[in-house]
Amino acid sequence: MAAVDSFYLLYREIARSCSCYMEALALVGAWYTARKSITVICDFYSLVRLHFIPRLVSRADLIKQYGRWAVVSGATDGIGRAYAEELASRGLNIILISRSQDKLQTVAKDIADTYKVETEVIVADFSSGREIYDPIREALKDKDIGILVNNVGVFYPYPQYFTQVSEDKLWDIINVNIAAASLMVHMVLPGMVERKKGAVVTISSGSCCKPTPQLAAYSASKAYLDHFSRALQYEYASQGIFVQSLIPFYVATNVTAPGSFLHKCPWLVPSPKVYAHHAVSTLGISKRTTGYWSHSIQFLFAQYMPEWLWVWGANVLNRSLRKEALSCKA
Ligand SMILES: NC(=O)c1ccc[n+]([C@@H]2O[C@H](COP(=O)([O-])OP(=O)(O)OC[C@H]3O[C@@H](n4cnc5c(N)ncnc54)[C@H](OP(=O)(O)O)[C@@H]3O)[C@@H](O)[C@H]2O)c1
Repeated sequence: MAAVDSFYLLYREIARSCSCYMEALALVGAWYTARKSITVICDFYSLVRLHFIPRLVSRADLIKQYGRWAVVSGATDGIGRAYAEELASRGLNIILISRSQDKLQTVAKDIADTYKVETEVIVADFSSGREIYDPIREALKDKDIGILVNNVGVFYPYPQYFTQVSEDKLWDIINVNIAAASLMVHMVLPGMVERKKGAVVTISSGSCCKPTPQLAAYSASKAYLDHFSRALQYEYASQGIFVQSLIPFYVATNVTAPGSFLHKCPWLVPSPKVYAHHAVSTLGISKRTTGYWSHSIQFLFAQYMPEWLWVWGANVLNRSLRKEALSCKA
């Protein structure tokens, strides 16, 4: 009994002498919680403001804002094709760049017939490196390019550890994902600066949020694009140019093999058409966005989660995507 009494006495004495520290700690805790809560509320408010409000008001006049012509790289399939169609539906003339003449002609004709706009095609394989840029420059020289969409990109056949990725694929990632966007911007931006208007959209990827194992080179190339776009925006915004880093998570294209479990949740993995429709509505509004509401929720989670959790999740997802791809092949 005496021991309990003396412990209680001791506890009261310690509590009394530490009470000012406890209050200070409680204040720090309350301040930290309030700050975090305000950040989360602001992030959700921006999500609603960006993805829902622009869809309620009338669509921006992209021709007046940026110019009559848009160039889209990797425009015959997936996100690139859908983005080109969405821009055409807003009245812009489109220049499509890809490797296959036949696919280009078919898509260009489809777009011209459906949206009553002009279309032109440039055949170029961005994996070939430096030699392709002079012909592209020549083809674009008389055009006032209002919007450049750096969409072309290559992915691994399926998520792989770095040493299993072929040397050819690594060069493709460097030439197609990194060099193409840099050189296309270098070619088109001076004209935009001269006209004091224009937009550059560069398609990065959600895998650039944090280091992504089993996609090391791909996710690093997309991080390059994200940083590149953000730095360009700081350099050229004052000259009337809008530079957007677009960071999609999964979209149901050839990259995410048809039949994959990813194609079974459309609100998480939208079709390219739905994705492009949403993404274009963020043009001129957000300098850095995923372009789609459910991707923005994923992006917020990715930002708040610790790196170890991201890495764990990426490993689990990429392992199952590899297994699925290999079992389809077998
Ligand atoms: N799909 C996703 O889940 C996802 C997620 C995040 C980011 N992204 C990014 O979004 C962009 C588009 O992806 P996607 O899924 O729409 O791809 P996709 O469906 O595979 O389409 C790729 C397009 O690029 C063209 N292309 C491929 N290699 C080329 C090369 N070497 N030179 C010129 N054109 C080439 C293809 O046309 P040809 O074959 O006729 O040349 C096709 O038009 C990429 O940058 C990708 O990294 C995609």
